[in-house]
Amino acid sequence: MSRTRTAAPPSRRRTALLAACTLMAATGATATALTTQAGAAAPGCRVDYQVTNQWSTGFGANVTVTNTGDPVSSWTLEWSYAGDQRIGQSWNATTTQSGAAVTARNASYNGSLATGGSTSFGFNASYSGTNAVPTTFKLNGVTCNGVTDPTDPTDPTDPPPTGSRVDNPYAGAKVYVNPEWSAKAAAEPGGTRISQQPTGVWLDRIAAINGVNGGMGLRAHLDEALRQKGTGELAVQLVIYNLPGRDCAALASNGELGPTEIDKYRTQYIDPIAAILADPKYAGLRIVTTVEIDSLPNLVTNVTPRPTATPNCDVMKANGNYIKGVGYALKKLGAIGNVYNYVDAGHHGWLGWDDNFGASADLFKQAATAEGSTVSNVHGFIVNTANYSALKEDHFKIEDSVNGVSVRQSKWVDWNRYTDELSYAQAMRARLVSLGFDQNLGMLIDTSRNGWGGAARPAGPGATNNVDTYVNGGRYDRRIHLGNWCNQAGAGLGERPKAAPAAGIDAYVWMKPPGESDGSSSQIPNDEGKGFDRMCDPTYTGNPRNGNSMSGALPNAPVSGHWFPAQFQELMRNAHPAL
Ligand code: GLC
Repeated sequence: MSRTRTAAPPSRRRTALLAACTLMAATGATATALTTQAGAAAPGCRVDYQVTNQWSTGFGANVTVTNTGDPVSSWTLEWSYAGDQRIGQSWNATTTQSGAAVTARNASYNGSLATGGSTSFGFNASYSGTNAVPTTFKLNGVTCNGVTDPTDPTDPTDPPPTGSRVDNPYAGAKVYVNPEWSAKAAAEPGGTRISQQPTGVWLDRIAAINGVNGGMGLRAHLDEALRQKGTGELAVQLVIYNLPGRDCAALASNGELGPTEIDKYRTQYIDPIAAILADPKYAGLRIVTTVEIDSLPNLVTNVTPRPTATPNCDVMKANGNYIKGVGYALKKLGAIGNVYNYVDAGHHGWLGWDDNFGASADLFKQAATAEGSTVSNVHGFIVNTANYSALKEDHFKIEDSVNGVSVRQSKWVDWNRYTDELSYAQAMRARLVSLGFDQNLGMLIDTSRNGWGGAARPAGPGATNNVDTYVNGGRYDRRIHLGNWCNQAGAGLGERPKAAPAAGIDAYVWMKPPGESDGSSSQIPNDEGKGFDRMCDPTYTGNPRNGNSMSGALPNAPVSGHWFPAQFQELMRNAHPAL
């Protein structure tokens, strides 16, 4: 896992928040038109227009029309496109198109619709640019009333999502304990104190879907989740983590897919995962998916002309495959009624600078609306995954100053707008809502390794000689530099997983399983695509992404994702709250 890349050009620009617009969540690329009339005497209809499949120049759609008015013996459904969609082949209806206006007439065998009766037809079509879902339909010349458009974030009449998503999937629910992680934790001296904590299940390669080297695959985890659930509610946490050209700014978590392998990502990774999650057997689980850790913000912070640019991130920006991959994953997974997508939103030590914050939020919106996805496929965002940023710094605030000098000018803060993850998560949430994401958006904060307890934890504010003594003396986060991310010495377990801990926060989670390495301290051959990143080498003196500081990494670490007992022990020792 690589995390961070800070070194934002200092900027004093204020981030202006736009007024929030309303958004009622709805599923997928569908439009639903509802009558509001009571009784069967009035004409009325409901239309469910679903894009079932989409590629760069074409799409397939399925339309279900329900007659809520008097019975009819034949029907004509009309709508108009906002773009250049052209219908080709159709089935179960005859379609004609004049310009943007489409007319679909019943086939010989499906013209009769009783009150409450419905029928479906389908078609293939071409398009270019955006494939917006039509918003208004007419059945036999009468507009289906209460027309709603789930793709319009300002439409307050949108229906609630289909499926039975709750606002916060963690509320009132147990969270899945991964038996494989639990066994490793329990086998460590003192490990049973935490081995029953829920942690994320990382689908970090295609083989993880069926299980790596005889390990548990996705179905095995979900079957076990059903067992743990019993008759109550249970949330299971999956990490979707296999983008083409993964981890473009670092080497430790490079993956199996090359920069161009977006089709393989779609068809051999996301599609099979979606097929399993859609199995009705698992419909009673609340499936939390955290989507592509540490990917999108690289396209803001680690590309030319930034001094922190890497060639691989320039490639991923140019080919668009991070955006396409995330959009595709959101669309496919978001179409499943009991899946809750949370997109990765970095952490404050990466995106907390003004120049990174807004541009990243814009990019999240771009990805959430790529590949036929809509913002309604996003239930929330997760921050600090596998990072070490403190949850809440109590001994200094961003508004503080010492002798008239703002803490933002301290070496540690370095013009960042935030001092900790809680304030960052809440501000990022507000920004995303202002961009049109669901106003009930929920944030997750990974607190698996940001506790910073133990003897080095400051008991009070630092000395007020100057901003540096004040900040450095008071901060819980004991890293050498905020940009350090690999196996950080001195870290401890943070807050235990917990539902609804603060305003706008759905949960504190342990998405990164404590005890799993961030990367090897020296080159270790492996067949996972993992490279050796010197940020994991304790003797490394740094790069522009960590202010050319020492890496602060623990020695003798194994390849990322592999079990690292020494780190596990240190995390327990420095836990805050203490174990
Ligand atoms: C890193 C590894 C990945 C592992 C994950 C969780 O991202 O690259 O293989 O599953 O950490 O420990």
